[in-house]
Amino acid sequence: MIELEVRNVVKHFGGLQALKGVSFRINGPERIGLIGPNGAGKTTLTNIISGVIKPTSGTVYFNGERIDPLKPYEIARRGLGRTFQITRAFRRMTVMENMLVPALALHPTANRRALEKKATEILEFLTIDHLAREFARNLSGGQQKLLELGRLLMLDPKLIILDEPFAGVHPKLRQTIWDFIVHVNENLERAFIIISHDMDTIFTLSKRLLVLNYGELIADGDPEAVRKDPRVIEAYLGEEEEEVAA
Ligand SMILES: Nc1ncnc2c1ncn2[C@@H]1O[C@H](COP(=O)(O)OP(=O)(O)OP(=O)(O)O)[C@@H](O)[C@H]1O
Ligand SMILES: [Mg+2]
Repeated sequence: MIELEVRNVVKHFGGLQALKGVSFRINGPERIGLIGPNGAGKTTLTNIISGVIKPTSGTVYFNGERIDPLKPYEIARRGLGRTFQITRAFRRMTVMENMLVPALALHPTANRRALEKKATEILEFLTIDHLAREFARNLSGGQQKLLELGRLLMLDPKLIILDEPFAGVHPKLRQTIWDFIVHVNENLERAFIIISHDMDTIFTLSKRLLVLNYGELIADGDPEAVRKDPRVIEAYLGEEEEEVAA
């Protein structure tokens, strides 16, 4: 079961209303893009769903249970995983250690050999298995993003939220990230929310798009309908050309 329900979530930072009552549902292994101009509230929404920050008001339910009062690790344990806009690998650990540590922290009784086998398979899929003994700090930015995806999958999340997984990544590794998302979504039947400013990528990759603008969800639908939505066009017209094309 994968069911997320975000109900009327509001977030204030001082006088700033970062989210103004956002509501939507996810049912099953959907592949959702979350877009919107800079400062629209995408990362804030992600932080609330994953428990990093608390909403000012509103609620979040995951598989029928209210999760917004829970701590991030409690939410992770229930099958909700996310990456950060800025990667957070343990730089002084090897790639393999990076894969094992979060999994062991979350499931202390797990079988280490089984975890290593699983980690190796994931690293192979991500094309960084040859780097298993390398320190994470020696990886390129793109490879660190791949490692972060791998670490996330070790936790067996049912719903995966990726904050700008393609940003600043070499085109060859972008394809690997794309393939990873499609594979995990279609073959392992995990749901995704993917935040991206790369319009070509996100419109093609997503089956459903959510559009945030100034803390409001202004569109929710299939990419073709969203592309033609006057409110979405309006929201992006205010942005610089390069932002829309980026
Ligand atoms: N901890 C915070 N304290 C104060 N203001 C914040 C905080 N976090 C975010 N904001 C503000 O809330 C608004 C939404 O920010 P958020 O980071 O969610 O936007 P975003 O859609 O992720 O933007 P980007 O595309 O640039 O990553 C912005 O105006 C931002 O400056
Ligand atoms: Mg952001």
